[in-house]
Amino acid sequence: MRAAVHTSYGSPDVVRIQSVEAPVAGNDELLIKVHATTVNRTDCHYRAAKPFVMRLFSGLTRPRATILGSEFAGEIVVAGCGVTAFGVGDKVFGYCEGKFGAHAEYIVVRADGPVAVMPPSLFYDEAAAATEGSHYALSHIRRAAVTSGQDVLVYGATGGIGSAAVQLLKAISANVTAVCATAHLDLVRGLGADRVLDYTTGEFATHDHRYDVVFDAVGQASFGECRRLLKPGAIYMSTGPGPGYQNLMLPLISPLLRGARVLFSYPKIDQAMVGYFRDLMESGQFRPVVDRRYPLADIVDAYRYVETGQKIGNVVISVDSPAQADQDAPALAAEVLGTTTKKDTVNAALREVGQRLVRLRALARLGEMSDRGDFDGLRGNKATYRK
Ligand SMILES: NC(=O)c1ccc[n+]([C@@H]2O[C@H](COP(=O)([O-])OP(=O)(O)OC[C@H]3O[C@@H](n4cnc5c(N)ncnc54)[C@H](OP(=O)(O)O)[C@@H]3O)[C@@H](O)[C@H]2O)c1
Repeated sequence: MRAAVHTSYGSPDVVRIQSVEAPVAGNDELLIKVHATTVNRTDCHYRAAKPFVMRLFSGLTRPRATILGSEFAGEIVVAGCGVTAFGVGDKVFGYCEGKFGAHAEYIVVRADGPVAVMPPSLFYDEAAAATEGSHYALSHIRRAAVTSGQDVLVYGATGGIGSAAVQLLKAISANVTAVCATAHLDLVRGLGADRVLDYTTGEFATHDHRYDVVFDAVGQASFGECRRLLKPGAIYMSTGPGPGYQNLMLPLISPLLRGARVLFSYPKIDQAMVGYFRDLMESGQFRPVVDRRYPLADIVDAYRYVETGQKIGNVVISVDSPAQADQDAPALAAEVLGTTTKKDTVNAALREVGQRLVRLRALARLGEMSDRGDFDGLRGNKATYRK
């Protein structure tokens, strides 16, 4: 099978697409054909072994896990003989905690681990992005025991963790104020935030509302900056260690901080949590934000983009074979686009194309067909898609 392999630590260039042996499922395991996965910040930390302390987990001198990727969405091709909850052909999504291996055409996971059947309404690329940022967000929300009606500020609401946090908080009826840059205010409003603040214009720095919980989802606002925003007894949490690793120390001296509590959360995910995400997606309360999509062959570019710190939500890798995509694109495009010129329907149809094929290749082929006049109605909408 094809896989993105790295055998030493370093820049994105240490990652190579190679042919490796496919894994074999044991009695209580599932062999999954991966259709989509993601490159996230955890993959970047493990690939680069930065900060250095990462090596305690990833391997002291070289990586223990040579194939990264923790999120996956795909189809079960083998279910071990001890598996009763899943069957061959089930479309599933999930997370391989600590084990990685999803940047490949096949992965083996435990059937009782963080895996669930995909909601029928979901596409592989969205399902693949449904567990990493969301489980970090949910672990923090649960650690702070946020309840309905509480005022919560999410700093960094456009990141993988922040964009999930806004939606997961709204699902439990918290009042959410979200902080992001000017260009993304509408996107974050669309995630359900009750109020949005722009951190680039000074709006965040000067506003004086008080919150029950301040959650720095991107690890960029220190406790010192946020303290004035906390109600008496309120909670501050961050996904990052903070200046001088203070976010690891502050929880120990919280009682001296005149009422404010600092918590640090170590995220955990299990099958029940993945099931919770599935239910929220099924009821329309949670939809992972997908920024860019790359074919597996271009995973190095995906790493480079994620490391800019500018991604919006999640970056998805399509693992489907490019050759197959090239072959199938024109027929599939004709099938899903040939009958309509309405914008919404065309958008939905293009999502279907992107799901089943390598999106960029399909769009390139569609562009050629559109230029030939095959799809008059497509011309106006093609520009709405990011390459
Ligand atoms: N605690 C843990 O176990 C754990 C696990 C995984 C990740 N993390 C950490 O959690 C953090 C967030 O991860 P992620 O995957 O959600 O990040 P991400 O998706 O890479 O976050 C990028 C987003 O953050 C926004 N951003 C960047 N600088 C900002 C600032 N100063 N103020 C507000 N927004 C800013 C960017 O938007 P604009 O630049 O356009 O504003 C971009 O949309 C990372 O630092 C990561 O290392 C922690």
